[in-house]
Amino acid sequence: MSDVRVLSLAVLLIGLLVQSVDASEQTEGAKLYGEMCTVCHGVTGNADGPGAAVLNPKPRKLSSAAIMSTIPDQVIFDMIKKGGLGVGKSPLMQSFGHLGDAKIEALVAHIRDLCECQYESDAGP
Ligand code: HEC
Repeated sequence: MSDVRVLSLAVLLIGLLVQSVDASEQTEGAKLYGEMCTVCHGVTGNADGPGAAVLNPKPRKLSSAAIMSTIPDQVIFDMIKKGGLGVGKSPLMQSFGHLGDAKIEALVAHIRDLCECQYESDAGP
């Protein structure tokens, strides 16, 4: 093969690779989270978004497997759907019930991606 052909093949492969990484990073939950949650919860869930400094109480780290493995999906779901007020917590965490259950489920799935964890009933502090 000529150098030019090798080069264009390489460019093609890199293009495909970049494209597939892009697609895999854009789950619906990640997109929604990026649009609506990072300001307080931070891009990786470390509670270090630009708005987090003034939050009191601060959200716990959605990125922490130690914390998030003690919280059932249903509790996360309710927190997002009903907001802090709806579950006896801070009203700073607003309700996102208007999104509808499917999008809230996508957000729960993204939060599980952030902590790389699942609920473990006998884990816990
Ligand atoms: C205006 C800031 C703000 C925004 C925006 C926000 N949150 Fe929160 N969130 C909070 C605060 C503050 C808490 C802690 C409430 C408490 O513990 O009383 C919280 C708690 C949570 C919790 C429970 C974790 C814990 O600490 O127990 C989850 C899950 C959560 N938020 C998900 C989301 C999702 C998903 C979005 C976007 C759709 C979002 N939040 C947007 C401020 C925010």
